Amino acid sequence: MSRFIFSALCAFFVCSICSTVASASDSAAGKALYDSKSCMACHNTGLSGAPKLGDKKAWEPRIAQGVDLLVSHAVNGFAGSAGTMPAKGDDATLTDAQIGDIVAYMVEKGK
Ligand code: HEC
Repeated sequence: MSRFIFSALCAFFVCSICSTVASASDSAAGKALYDSKSCMACHNTGLSGAPKLGDKKAWEPRIAQGVDLLVSHAVNGFAGSAGTMPAKGDDATLTDAQIGDIVAYMVEKGK
């Protein structure tokens, strides 16, 4: 009996981790941030080599690297062959979680 309770508790614990991860990025919140923050300045127009929002060709190879890497590049900054992505788009008021939301939105548009 106690074994049953133990495994039930384990299942509950694992599930609560799953749902936390699943809701970690919120692309609707990301859209609002994307539109109101610096991101759109470069990513709407392709300024200085930025992959344009909704440009599936530009995003496909990036998405293939995994969203975690994209978020890390957006948070920490990244100099690639196309240009330089400034850390947090030069907006230090954005939290890592907010960057995650914005990237989720950009990835959704790029698929
Ligand atoms: C000054 C222009 C500029 C601004 C502002 C900017 N970006 Fe970028 N971003 C770039 C450029 C240029 C690249 C492409 C770098 C490369 O691949 O050579 C890029 C690439 C990216 C990538 C793909 C990274 C990868 O690994 O392929 C993500 C994700 C991204 N930006 C997110 C954001 C977010 C989120 C914001 C707003 C907080 C933002 N960018 C603001 C210029 C900008």
